[in-house]
Amino acid sequence: MALFDWKDSFSMNIKAVDEQHKMLIQTLNELHEAMLTGQAREVISGILKSLEDYTQVHFSYEEELMKRYNYPDFAKHKKEHDAFTQKVGEFIGKYQKGHLMLSLEVMNFLKDWLKNHIMGVDKGYSSFLNEKGVV
Ligand code: FEO
Repeated sequence: MALFDWKDSFSMNIKAVDEQHKMLIQTLNELHEAMLTGQAREVISGILKSLEDYTQVHFSYEEELMKRYNYPDFAKHKKEHDAFTQKVGEFIGKYQKGHLMLSLEVMNFLKDWLKNHIMGVDKGYSSFLNEKGVV
């Protein structure tokens, strides 16, 4: 069973953003599966790196859109992105040094953060950008 399933209610009505969110959810599910099946540290490190890289691609994309259309809550939104980026970087650093086990607690933190972020601050720009013609 997947850790995290996409729901239509997550949609921002912006095709590229929805595809990116789906990719992030898929990567989290891969990480969860690797944890459950006891995959090697190198495999898990690789998936964590993909998560970090793809998160950067996605955050940059959103930030660019928000800046281009002068989204009023840009600064608050970017703060959340930066905090998550830092947290994921810390996880990876600790995991690679053997100071952190990939646990259900870590997985749930990642899943809950992403879900709350999508349904919270991401939803905030959805109608704003849709009204500017971004779909
Ligand atoms: Fe979809 Fe603000 O991250």
